[in-house]
Amino acid sequence: MPETKIRKARQEDHSSLCRFIEIVDNEFCPPLSMRGNGIEKRVWECLTGKHSYYLIAEDHSGPYDILGTVIGVIGCNKFWRKENDAYINLMCVHPLQRKKGISRALCQELERELMNDGIKKLYVCTWSTNDAAMRFYGSNGFIPYCIMKNDRGNRVDTIHYRKTFQS
Ligand SMILES: CC(C)(COP(=O)(O)OP(=O)(O)OC[C@H]1O[C@@H](n2cnc3c(N)ncnc32)[C@H](O)[C@@H]1OP(=O)(O)O)[C@@H](O)C(=O)NCCC(=O)NCCS
Repeated sequence: MPETKIRKARQEDHSSLCRFIEIVDNEFCPPLSMRGNGIEKRVWECLTGKHSYYLIAEDHSGPYDILGTVIGVIGCNKFWRKENDAYINLMCVHPLQRKKGISRALCQELERELMNDGIKKLYVCTWSTNDAAMRFYGSNGFIPYCIMKNDRGNRVDTIHYRKTFQS
């Protein structure tokens, strides 16, 4: 893993987070820019929400002067459907920094924080053509519990996962 620091994002990180998400936008199905009110609003709502936040991974050693230092992000909504659950609303890593354990580190840190807050279940979903994400969730303790056939297009299913924390 590169020299990476993980921290909670602040409102001042809004524009660098948006610029980072734009880099990976088209890898999402559908792209994040096509969902709801777009990336800027999505990020702002998560940064300012009472029960939502992002953890970001930053690399201060690389040549990221133009794009900023963000190389990965995970976002969550706490107390999502019940008071002891949470939902991962975003996870992505810079294309040049993948397969180095950055998502795993972000997810582990998120889980640590959520457990400290008394969260017992963590939910996430992905789509059936996203091999990297399916492998990631499968190898990090998430169990698929619902598949919505053709939800995102012809033969592109939505797969819902959940992870129950052991206390
Ligand atoms: C999915 C994604 C976030 C993974 O981030 P990452 O930092 O590269 O993941 P990690 O290095 O922490 O990988 C941890 C494990 O996930 C699995 N994994 C991650 N990327 C993989 C890939 N391309 N192919 C197969 N397995 C993969 C592996 O099991 C890996 O463990 P290993 O390296 O010991 O084999 C990244 O590929 C990404 O940003 N994709 C585009 C956005 C996206 O699809 N987000 C998820 C939406 S639900």
